[in-house]
Amino acid sequence: AQGGPLAGKHVLVTSGPTHEPIDPVRYIANRSSGKQGHAIARAAAALGADVTLVTGPVALADPAGINVVHIETAQEMAQAVANALPADVAIFAAAVADWRTTAQKQAKIKKSAGGKPQLELTENPDILAGVGNRTEGRPTLVIGFAAETENVVAEATRKRQTKGADWIVANDVSPARGVFGGDGNTVHLVTAHGVEDWPTLSKDEVAARLMAHIADHFNSKASV
Ligand code: PMT
Repeated sequence: AQGGPLAGKHVLVTSGPTHEPIDPVRYIANRSSGKQGHAIARAAAALGADVTLVTGPVALADPAGINVVHIETAQEMAQAVANALPADVAIFAAAVADWRTTAQKQAKIKKSAGGKPQLELTENPDILAGVGNRTEGRPTLVIGFAAETENVVAEATRKRQTKGADWIVANDVSPARGVFGGDGNTVHLVTAHGVEDWPTLSKDEVAARLMAHIADHFNSKASV
């Protein structure tokens, strides 16, 4: 895209769930639909950015005019993010599985009388923390999400620090809120300057508002 406040900026966005295989037919996953991450990628393109969208398996069409990289697992997402750097802005909206099975079975696990399969789990790499805590080649703005069901802002504030993020978009994903898979989102933007509570908005509106903040950030830096 030419023109626009983010022209010439490379914006990297992660979106959707990851799938962690158990055996050739089963996997561990979560309820992310990719709607929020994809909306952010579209909003960045609308402001003229060059956008790379790294997405897990979702039922959404690839947004037009965006470089889309499809992955399945957290390890593949980490590799795709590393391949996509350098970026000016990196936004981590994906719901990455925290764990994968330690040893993926090569054949389908069969039921046997009374037997219960034991799954041993290994922690996945934290992709946001890996980028946020980089000493070299760190994007100017690293933005994470925090999906919480309790102490939403306190947890987001903690994650901002431990993961080396500049901003965290905190959302309450308690089931009654319908954030996973739904069209609306109620978020708090946590930055070094404090917390902004946003009203309930559509995911497109959250994306547009976040992108406007990002454009302001670069404009105010440019004018200093
Ligand atoms: O996809 P939708 O249905 O539209 O729903 C949107 C959403 C709820 C998935 C999205 O708004 C959201 O909150 N995404 C982050 C979900 C999440 O995994 O949050 P978390 O609090 O567990 O992780 C915190 C941050 O670290 C996130 O930016 C996450 O992308 C990142 N992370 C987490 C684990 C990991 N191994 N690597 C990561 O990069």
